[in-house]
Amino acid sequence: MTTITAAITAVGAYVPEFVLSNQVLETMVDTNDEWITTRTGIKERRLLKEKGKGTSFMAIKAAQDLISKANINPEEIDLIIMATTTPDMPVASTGVYVASQIGATNAFAYDLQAACSSFLYGMSNAAAYIQSGRYKKVLLIGADKMSSIIDYTDRATCIIFGDGAGAVLFEPNYEGLGLQDELLKSDGIGREYLKIDAGGSILPPSIETVENRQHYVFQDGKTVFKYAVSGMADVSAKIMERNNLTKDDVNWLIAHQANKRIIDATANRMELDEEKVLVNIHRYGNTTSATLPLLLSDFEDKLKKGDNLIFAAFGGGFTWGSIYLKWAYNKQ
Ligand code: UT7
Repeated sequence: MTTITAAITAVGAYVPEFVLSNQVLETMVDTNDEWITTRTGIKERRLLKEKGKGTSFMAIKAAQDLISKANINPEEIDLIIMATTTPDMPVASTGVYVASQIGATNAFAYDLQAACSSFLYGMSNAAAYIQSGRYKKVLLIGADKMSSIIDYTDRATCIIFGDGAGAVLFEPNYEGLGLQDELLKSDGIGREYLKIDAGGSILPPSIETVENRQHYVFQDGKTVFKYAVSGMADVSAKIMERNNLTKDDVNWLIAHQANKRIIDATANRMELDEEKVLVNIHRYGNTTSATLPLLLSDFEDKLKKGDNLIFAAFGGGFTWGSIYLKWAYNKQ
């Protein structure tokens, strides 16, 4: 019997038009371009400003971009996994709405939340469905409207995050291309360091929680940084080791774009040359679930059939991990 592997066969993306630059942030909080650039690598980020538009708006655009580029019929999609930390609403799955809006009338859909690792975990989910032979077309979307949960008076968080969306299609492959190995981790120790206190079941919304600004992201940046550096580097080095990959075998590092220094530390640990490390954090900041597919979309031209890609992510929870995937196509 031929082994089925799960390959990415198409990519799509969307970022909002509005650009929030470091220079504009300087006028909003006590910060400066030099600090943001040297500490994070970020120059600007995109924000979805239009009232009444949520994460689904960007997810639909990214999915439609993929559908038109890959020229697929949305009715053929079996499943949509919506990786997001900022669903349109706490109840009523965002993925289900997206599926209906893009005409994926034969698909079922659900949301997956694992903070900044949502897309990485989603890759694991999507691949498992394909490898099992159960489904033939799984659309994985990573989208977040981080501006809806960020306090733009808090300089520790507002300089980091941005909005965006990306989508990939997983399909069966019979040449051994696609997902090869995964190493996914989580540790509840992280809950205190990166969170939103209110709005959930522990602390439901009230006038008091709003007044205390408890519906915004809180991050103990220094602690998260420490865990992120060692976590992402460890799993990336381990996945190389257990697949007998040397630095020369790896073509591309696709790492979560949270901080350029974290990406560099991971690349150093893997002993990768700079040109193998895909980076777009300077343009979008940290778009949470969208960072990995936005990299694939921005650098799709460079990726060649058979290339070895190492994905890595780290996020709140904590959640983190690495995936080794063989790229399956050359862009037409
Ligand atoms: O994607 C999910 C996972 N998240 C991450 O991976 C993020 C991990 N953390 C980070 O990327 C970094 O910790 C930050 C970028 C958030 C902060 O960088 P840092 O080098 O860890 O800075 P820090 O928090 O240690 O602050 C250093 C100094 C402090 O001043 P003092 O106490 O040394 O006088 C801060 O008050 O920088 C100050 N500071 C700022 N200054 C100018 C903090 N934020 C700012 C700012 N502009 N925006």
